[in-house]
Amino acid sequence: MSDSQVFHVKPAMAASAQVDATQYRLMTNHAEHDADAFWLEQARTRLDWVREPTLGCNAHFSGDHAIRWFEDGLLNVSANCLDRHLATRADDIALIWVGDEEGVEKRLSFRDLHEQVCRFANVLKDQGVRRGDRVAIFLPMVPEAAVAMLACTRIGAVHSVMFAGFSASSVAGRLEDCGAKVVVTADEGRRGGKRVRLKAIIDEALEAGGSPVETVIVLRVTGAEIARQPGRDLDYAELMAAASPDCTPEPMAAEDPLFILYTSGSTGKPKGVLHTTGGYLLWAAFTHSIVFDYRPGEVYWCTADIGWITGHSYGIYGPLANGATTLMFEGVPTYPDAGRWWRIIDQYQVTTFYTAPTAIRALMTAGDAPVKASSRASLRVIATVGETINPEAWLWYYHVVGEGRVPLVDTWWQTETGGHLIAGPAAIVAQKPGSATLPIPGVLPVLLDEKGQPVEGEGEGALCVAKSWPGQMRTLWGDHDRFIQSYFSTYPGYYFSGDGGRRDADGYYWVTGRMDDVINVSGHRIGSAEVESALAHHPAVAEAAVVGVPHDLKGQALFAFVILCASDLASLDAAGQRALCDELARHAGSVLGRYAAPDHVLVVPDLPKTRSGKIMRRVLRKIATNELDSLGDTSTLADPSVVDAIVERLRARD
Ligand code: WTA
Repeated sequence: MSDSQVFHVKPAMAASAQVDATQYRLMTNHAEHDADAFWLEQARTRLDWVREPTLGCNAHFSGDHAIRWFEDGLLNVSANCLDRHLATRADDIALIWVGDEEGVEKRLSFRDLHEQVCRFANVLKDQGVRRGDRVAIFLPMVPEAAVAMLACTRIGAVHSVMFAGFSASSVAGRLEDCGAKVVVTADEGRRGGKRVRLKAIIDEALEAGGSPVETVIVLRVTGAEIARQPGRDLDYAELMAAASPDCTPEPMAAEDPLFILYTSGSTGKPKGVLHTTGGYLLWAAFTHSIVFDYRPGEVYWCTADIGWITGHSYGIYGPLANGATTLMFEGVPTYPDAGRWWRIIDQYQVTTFYTAPTAIRALMTAGDAPVKASSRASLRVIATVGETINPEAWLWYYHVVGEGRVPLVDTWWQTETGGHLIAGPAAIVAQKPGSATLPIPGVLPVLLDEKGQPVEGEGEGALCVAKSWPGQMRTLWGDHDRFIQSYFSTYPGYYFSGDGGRRDADGYYWVTGRMDDVINVSGHRIGSAEVESALAHHPAVAEAAVVGVPHDLKGQALFAFVILCASDLASLDAAGQRALCDELARHAGSVLGRYAAPDHVLVVPDLPKTRSGKIMRRVLRKIATNELDSLGDTSTLADPSVVDAIVERLRARD
């Protein structure tokens, strides 16, 4: 191999693999040469169907951009995740829930989870929820979140999980867009010893009207005092107690909508990514099994919140479809101290641990001691997702957490892709720190140059995919034109991920980061346009531009440049401006959710714009990172002197 740092699969791991290197090569060949036959076989063997599909892929990356897989198949997701395991492992643990406070836990067997899901499915039906209706889920990391998601799938309702860190206005926009009839929420959530007032956020989100929500089901988590709207707000526990534990799973067409998950795009409001039933579930199950070399009976832990795609595919659907025991943790990695995660691994004998680079970097700063205080002997595979992992963090994760004993798998994928697209299975592919390695069978990544031509061999370009895969998103909820525009217009005929990538001499892929105006803060996607519009809504702000700058822990941090309304600017001295900048950061956080509060806000006299009025964020990025020598071509700026004026402001502030 060309790079000096290559971590080969250890012989013992390779020898005991569920799918070995030879089988994997055959799978890859089969998927490439006869995709329909390969995926139909996978679909039939990995999933239970009410009616087995005979049709494979029917997808078009042009024209109507319709994407369909297994369209004559009928199945139910909750039956695949629960019912089919009852015959052989009803008493095995499906879900281990670990509470924020140490010593608090719950274990749900497949039988328990099945019963709760059936009850809640009946609760939803009693509230008038029917096939195709949308149900919003705004819950903390509690077992009831998994119950609510699976209950939706049981009756064919479409869930939209909203991250419990969102603000009322973020939630309101999403509720309105998806047209949810019912919201499932909690009085409060617990995280790191703090409480988050979830019900109050829903109340505020619904105050403005605009969404068709008729019912709010409230789970009591902390027992906090909450406002109650008679007729609208119902108690989770009361409804569950009264509901029947029998509920026949609804046979769904493979292409029936399964869930909507909102994610940030480079422009405008968040995009409602739609996944459908058969292809998504197969992709989650297939990749979970192959990439992590999952073995029955193992305890698997993905730390992602259910509010993100990783929590959907690898916290719930993939592992449960494969009959795994999935661990759900309510808290944060550093509460009550930086040893918490490692203690959980020992306590529950976790074999597979899947987390994000931002968490690894945060824990790295606490040193090796909290890790070394645990044994971690149960670990067999460790993995990462969310952004390119910097080699320093990779090596620490590998050598300190994994003790150089277990493989570390990097997985590149997106909300839109449903599951892993580039990842080297733990027992099969040699790893290189910082590279997501090789594509999953059937995935055809392509790097396109500026002219839209494929780069052959070693090289760099826009990371696209040439052919559909079963887990691909099908559309943006209610806006198929935007779907085409967002993913297929820059490079016609290809799915464009928005990321840039490089391929090395071994065919390994290295993701170089977003090519659009999406900023990745602690693994959370934030559109610069969203933050800019939140800032512009503040009465003191005339205009704002937001870029991402490197940050040691978060990967990237937000840097906002704001132009104040003339009257506000005139009345402020330096201290007043600083106070206003702090207020603006808080304001953006309260509009979008705290994770979207900029780290830096700088008042500037003007913004660098092209003659057609487009903000040149590229120039702002260079200014923010003090790379003034490499500003690039600024001749297209309407007024090149703006750059000096901004630099002067930055210097005056420092
Ligand atoms: C980035 C999360 C490099 C990338 C599953 C992508 C990564 C975006 C990796 C999707 C990785 C995710 N290496 N970059 N292993 N994983 N990304 O939709 O920019 O929240 O486009 O999905 O995260 O983020 P999303």
